[in-house]
Amino acid sequence: MTRRILVTGGAGFIGSHVVEALRARGDEPHVMDDLSKGQVSNLPVDVPLYVLDMAASPLERLFEIPFDAVVHCAAQTNVMRSLADPALDRRINVTGLVRVLHGALASGVRRFVFISSGGAVYGETPVPATETTQPRPENPYGCHKLEGEALVAAEPISSVSLRLSNVYGPRQRSDAEGGVASIFSDRLAAGLPLRIYGDGEQQRDFVHVADVASAILLALDDDSMTGVWNVGTGTPTSVNDLAALMIEASGEHTLIERLPARGEIRRSCLDIAKLRGTGRWAPERTLRQGVAELLRSAAHVL
Ligand SMILES: NC(=O)c1ccc[n+]([C@@H]2O[C@H](COP(=O)([O-])OP(=O)(O)OC[C@H]3O[C@@H](n4cnc5c(N)ncnc54)[C@H](O)[C@@H]3O)[C@@H](O)[C@H]2O)c1
Repeated sequence: MTRRILVTGGAGFIGSHVVEALRARGDEPHVMDDLSKGQVSNLPVDVPLYVLDMAASPLERLFEIPFDAVVHCAAQTNVMRSLADPALDRRINVTGLVRVLHGALASGVRRFVFISSGGAVYGETPVPATETTQPRPENPYGCHKLEGEALVAAEPISSVSLRLSNVYGPRQRSDAEGGVASIFSDRLAAGLPLRIYGDGEQQRDFVHVADVASAILLALDDDSMTGVWNVGTGTPTSVNDLAALMIEASGEHTLIERLPARGEIRRSCLDIAKLRGTGRWAPERTLRQGVAELLRSAAHVL
């Protein structure tokens, strides 16, 4: 049965892959996005797009459409911006979420999937964080994601929050959260040296956006998934190793520029045993395959 799904932030990086995956299986995605970061060109032309600011625009008309479910991807995603302007981050990531959530509740939406952030919610993870690890957000963005999870769980609607690790893949902007692979890809395509901050031994859990989209579809379908679930790979990779992998895959002789360290988390990695344990999801792409694909798509765009 075809289902009508509202994807907020659907013109952005992850949201547009969710839209693609929903269409591929015969569902009917609709998109709400203010296009502050998202782009119309990320979407197939026949996907309904409602250009609205979820934190300010009236949403009643939108929720007159009988949606079966909502995937809430829309967010302010820049950690530095959340530090510079926490009130703005709260307006979008808390007030905006609450407005969408209340619209969904009032219109009888059956299922709500909230896209949270493992990297931001857990903070430093000396060992891969499980869903029971004490959250230690280190910036307003992380605090607001954590608050969002609690707000979603408190409402009388079937819901789940997905804590994503560092997502990479085609259509990622290089100024977004965790965009290091897309920054490297852009610089390789432009023949520029790769810039690494500090010793480059900071580690991240890089997960391909197609694997994230399939986890989101599973969470959409499975009402027994409630509370918080990690989505990543469980494997930490240093920025030095990512750079080496991407240089090798590009076949370029690229220089690496070393810059002073920024105050960033040393190690962020998610334990994905809970999601894997469903027997219905596992990351399918290795980082080597994923970055090779990313470089090919960047070369295609240029
Ligand atoms: N990319 C990652 O590595 C990563 C990791 C963890 C969590 N996340 C989360 O995944 C979700 C999607 O992130 P993304 O990487 O695709 O970023 P993105 O910036 O590409 O997508 C966010 C979308 O939300 C839209 N938006 C922003 N403010 C809005 C508003 N007020 N009203 C309506 N739309 C608005 C933007 O235009 C954009 O299209 C976000 O919730 C983000 O916090 C991303």
